[in-house]
Amino acid sequence: MRNYYIAGNWKMHKTRAEAAALAQALVSQLKKGKHKYLVAPSFTALETVASVLKGSPILLGAQNMAAAEQGAHTGEVSVLQLKDLGVQAVILGHSERRHSYHEDDELINKKVKLALQHGLEVILCVGELLSEREAGKAEGVCEIQTVRGLAGVAAGDLSRVSIAYEPVWAIGTGKTATPEDADAIHAAIRRVVARLYGGAAAEELLIQYGGSVKPDNAAQLMAKEHIDGALVGGAALSADTFVPIALFS
Ligand code: PGA
Repeated sequence: MRNYYIAGNWKMHKTRAEAAALAQALVSQLKKGKHKYLVAPSFTALETVASVLKGSPILLGAQNMAAAEQGAHTGEVSVLQLKDLGVQAVILGHSERRHSYHEDDELINKKVKLALQHGLEVILCVGELLSEREAGKAEGVCEIQTVRGLAGVAAGDLSRVSIAYEPVWAIGTGKTATPEDADAIHAAIRRVVARLYGGAAAEELLIQYGGSVKPDNAAQLMAKEHIDGALVGGAALSADTFVPIALFS
């Protein structure tokens, strides 16, 4: 039986004081939670949130990371610096990184391997554009992004990877994939992982859905066989909307 994994991506929101207040609310309100949880604040609030999360089971995640360990990369943040702040996981290949900042599968794959090499967990995001869905290519796009994102990842490291299926057209738009459509893509991703790593590893892989997850649609999505959690953006910015998603049963 797979666990559920519910992650909040705070994107470019919140000062340190605001981030600390939200983290504090989550620490107290998720005490009874049975699932796996993560919050990903901005780089600037990581240290502050790390101190609030200390001793709680909520994981601290970063929203991105450089593809190099260190060096002349103005404006980037390295895996070593993230680990120094207590970061345990990193979101890679988010659609905003792919589409607004032109990150391709090759770059994302470098980051995935580097993060794993340094002991972090990875949430690898995949997802199709609206035009790709309308052209019947959603499954194919997600399969390619999965294969390329995981290229060279050792079987022994796969347990530290989860995949987030985030249809680009559903992110921040209020449009959600139907549970059936999302589950079909999740099943396709699991088949790809089974081909690459074998059936047992694929059965254990956590595949989250992301894209306008809210308290009123989360349970229906996560009731589906292959939907093992959620990567939440807008609704993760307040405990009032994140906690009901995180405590779903
Ligand atoms: P959203 O964002 O929940 O605001 O659609 C999800 C994400 O980008 O991870």
